[in-house]
Formats: sequence, structure tokens, C-alpha cells
Amino acid sequence: MSKKRILVTGGTGYIGSHTVIELQQAGYEVIIIDNLSNSNIEVLDGIEAVTGTRPAFVKGDVTDVEVLRKLFETYPDIKGIINFAASKAVGESVEKPLLYYRNNLVSLLNLLELMPQYKVKGIVFSSSCTVYGEPDINPVTESTPFKTATSPYGNTKQISEEIITDTIKSGAPFKSVILRYFNPVGAHPSACVGELPNGVPQNLIPFLTQTAIGVRKQLSVFGDDYPTPDGSCIRDFIDVVDLARAHVMAVARIVDDKMDEPVEIFNLGTGRGVSVLELLHTFVNATGVDVPYVITERRAGDIIQVWANPEKANKVLGWKAEVPLEETMRNAWRWQLKLREKGIM
Ligand code: UD1
Repeated sequence: MSKKRILVTGGTGYIGSHTVIELQQAGYEVIIIDNLSNSNIEVLDGIEAVTGTRPAFVKGDVTDVEVLRKLFETYPDIKGIINFAASKAVGESVEKPLLYYRNNLVSLLNLLELMPQYKVKGIVFSSSCTVYGEPDINPVTESTPFKTATSPYGNTKQISEEIITDTIKSGAPFKSVILRYFNPVGAHPSACVGELPNGVPQNLIPFLTQTAIGVRKQLSVFGDDYPTPDGSCIRDFIDVVDLARAHVMAVARIVDDKMDEPVEIFNLGTGRGVSVLELLHTFVNATGVDVPYVITERRAGDIIQVWANPEKANKVLGWKAEVPLEETMRNAWRWQLKLREKGIM
């Protein structure tokens, strides 16, 4: 039987690249489209180094419907899509809302409009725990209500979920698995792919590993006066390879006709809330590398605490977070060392 072909938009990005590896290792044929706006072409070398197979690649923008049409004409047997192509910096989205609405929504509309024409069976969509805002109760389940989005980025995730649901409700001939990620961290244990943010990292782990290696002077812990046990914010840090595996399971439900409902939504988290300070200490203990830090003011817009109830993903998707946090921290550090070795950072 020939391999099933999956289109991965944003496939050279952080979560995309790890997912391409897992897809290839599970026997799928992958085609990536990426505009390389926040990644680079060498990621393909990293993927090939792990799997022995270089994925097909189209440099292009998913917001350009003609580019997509041409891709579908060239690869007419695409069975499923995993849609990572999107902008994700919360702060930037407040500065440039239209850029975020265009990138994140037009790309989705293009895909949804073309899917029936090319008989694509379904789409896996990258959503986020940001849809829950500051939840009244933790852990959150998939039926925890949305809160008003606090950034255009968060709003694009809520709107995208609604667009997908409305389209499928109207009778569109495809299905969707919506995955709500908590906080993805870490890197592939091979250190062949990982996270490579442009400029000064906004997210905790890349800032932390860059501090550990001396690129940044010190890590700022944004606030230790929150109503949490140690005063710092609490998140559900999920290993990026665990997260990538969930995408393979999700796309398999689509292409193998295993879905219970035409739209299925899953929280992807560990089920364990870990504070920023706890994460910092876990990194130091796991790697033996010191990280200078200071406590600073709270960061505007941060929510206090959120962690997942992942039971639905455990039971229905058959997925469970497996990588221990210490191992995730060692992998993040290995990746940072690799970047240094290559002279990138
Ligand atoms: C947020 C969104 C997430 C989105 C992500 C994209 C929520 C709950 N989460 O993640 O959906 O995909 O942005 O970027 O809205 N911190 C520091 N010092 C730093 C950096 C971060 O103390 O230098 C703290 C933050 O205050 C926060 C935690 O670390 O408490 C995690 O921050 P970050 O990695 O930026 O992710 P979120 O803001 O949780």
C-alpha cells in the first residue's frame, strides 16, 4: 500500500518540525509548505538527519490561495492537513492585529475552501489553552467555557475554532481535530531540531536556555506575588515530542475514518501545573547548569494559572504525555548546546 500523504503547513517551525519527524516515522509521506518567516530551510536537514527522509517542501504562504491551489494540483493525493502556519507572539499581535488576523485566519479560510475540491478528508488545527483565558477552576476540560480573548492572537484561536465548527456543521465534506496546546517546551532528544526564536525570546524556556549559555545576562521571573504557592505563575509544560505524537494520532483518526464526531477537540497537557520558579529549579537540577535570575514586575496580560485535564485525550485519542519534565529540560539544554556548536547562538 502506498504511503498516505499529509500536508503540514508551517512544517519547518518549532512544533511543525517535530511533528514531521513523528509523521515520517509512523509511515506517512509529508509535504511541507512554509514561508520561512519564522524558521529556516536548514530545518529540513535536521528532519532528514533523524528520519533519513527529506520531506517534500514548498516555499510559500498559505494566505496565498493560488500558491495553495498549485500545491494541491501538484500533489493531488493529500489525505489530511496539519495546520501549524500561524503567527504566535502575543505581544506582537497587540501591536499588529491585522497582521495576525490575516496570517491566522486567511490561511485557514484558504485551506477550508480548497479541501473539498481536492478531497482532503480533514484538518488538524493548532489551538491553544489561551482560549480559556484565566479559568475560574483548574484543571480545565474541553468544555470549560471560553473567556473573552485578551489579545488578537488569542482571538484568532477562538475565531478559528468557530470557523472550523461552523463550516463542518454546514455540511462541509471533511472533519477536524482541534488540539488545544498548553505550554510546549523542549526539543527532539537527537538535538537535530528544536526551537529557534527570532531575536529576544518572549517565551520562558528559550530565554532560560539562552541565559544558561550566557547569551542573556539573567532571566526575569515576571512576578512572585501571584496567589499561587510560590507566588509565580503556573503553567502546564508539555514536551514538544509528546505534543508531536498527538498530531500523528489525530491525523490517523481523520485519514482512517476513526472519528466519533466530525469535530473533536482535545486538551494536550500533562495534567500537572508547574510554577515558573519550579520549572527553573527543575532545569538547574536536571542539567547542573546555573541560571542567574531576578524577580521583576508582572508581565502585562499574563494569566495566573492554567493547567489541563487531559483525560479526554488520554481516553479517546489514546495519547498521554510521557516525557518526564527533567528529560524535557535536558533536551532543551542539549538543543541550546547544539546551537552554540553550530555557531548560531
Ligand atoms: C502564551 C499563551 C499561549 C501562546 C503562547 C505563545 C496563555 C495562557 N498562553 O503562553 O497560548 O501559545 O503565549 O507565545 O495565554 N516568563 C517569565 N520570564 C520570561 C518569559 C516568561 O517569567 O522571560 C513567565 C511568564 O510570565 C509566564 C510563563 O513564564 O508565567 C510562561 O510564559 P511564556 O513561555 O511566554 O508562555 P505563556 O505566556 O504561558
